[in-house]
Amino acid sequence: MTNTLTIRRPDDWHLHFRDGDIMRGVVPYTARQFGRAIVMPNLSPPVTTTALAREYRDRIIAAVPDGVEFTPLMTCYLTDTTDPDDLAMGASDGVFTAAKLYPANATTNSAHGVSDVEKIYPVLKRMEADGIVLCVHGEVTDNDIDVFDREAEFIDRHMRAIIANFPNLKVVFEHITTSDAVDFVNECGSNVAATITPQHLHINRNAMLVGGIQPHNYCLPVAKRETHRLALRAAATSGSAKFFLGTDSAPHLRSVKETSCGCAGIFNAPFAIESYLAVFEEEGALDKFEAFASLNGPAFYGLAVSEESITLERVAVHVPDMLDLTGEDIVPWHAGQTLNWRIAG
Ligand code: DOR
Ligand code: ZN
Repeated sequence: MTNTLTIRRPDDWHLHFRDGDIMRGVVPYTARQFGRAIVMPNLSPPVTTTALAREYRDRIIAAVPDGVEFTPLMTCYLTDTTDPDDLAMGASDGVFTAAKLYPANATTNSAHGVSDVEKIYPVLKRMEADGIVLCVHGEVTDNDIDVFDREAEFIDRHMRAIIANFPNLKVVFEHITTSDAVDFVNECGSNVAATITPQHLHINRNAMLVGGIQPHNYCLPVAKRETHRLALRAAATSGSAKFFLGTDSAPHLRSVKETSCGCAGIFNAPFAIESYLAVFEEEGALDKFEAFASLNGPAFYGLAVSEESITLERVAVHVPDMLDLTGEDIVPWHAGQTLNWRIAG
């Protein structure tokens, strides 16, 4: 039995840090494990310009604990009126690593998102020319489309068109939840990849709806049926360079999760690596873990892999029921459970 695993230091290719006190509370959890993270721009107001991203990056860096090496990689929140020149300048200045497409009203703080994907085609053209990565929240928002079908519908209505119109655009299909998305990404060329969260590898939709509403298992896109979870596990552990780690850690205080209209988002940053590793061990794929966590993401983004390494050891770790975040309760992913691995040292 393998009891230790040493891998290049991993990166998180999709997460939410928020801002202010919450951000200062959550950044250390991520910086403990990951060397870099792609930071989502869905603040209120959103991070839509190079100037706003630069300031936000400074605030994140100020929240990294002393002695810890961590680099936030910033994203531009695309709107109907995004200025392609500002985005291109931010990318060439090293402020923006990617731009994020939120269909308007698809999820938390997405009201300023794109109302019609074709409206940003001029921006996508510039991104394709300049090699700027497009990160996509792939769900349609129409009321008449069942929430469990929104990802598959987005592929047919928008993803295929984006890829056909911009064949050299680098696209990350974020937090995929369906076998349809796995198949789509596999059919595309090497310019299309996907991130997968730990929760979508661990749970199906029953975890949200059986035995009472389980708000801490609710995120967007919502977990789907078991066949989809199994397809995601197969993709993540396949060794394919198209799939990599992106936690979608999305902190919301307990008070706004456990309420009559609870927020979408799972706060998985505290034990993210341990959570993913549990899946890879269950699938007998520990040998594929480094590719998923530490190699495939940098290769896709054209960045160097980390020169540092981390060692994981087989030691039971108990996840607390609750954590304190700026004096308020927040419930971590895997609350109350025991995980089998931890980061050594
Ligand atoms: O569950 C989610 N929470 N999905 C998202 O796309 C956004 C995120 C958030 O910001 O809370
Ligand atoms: Zn997200």
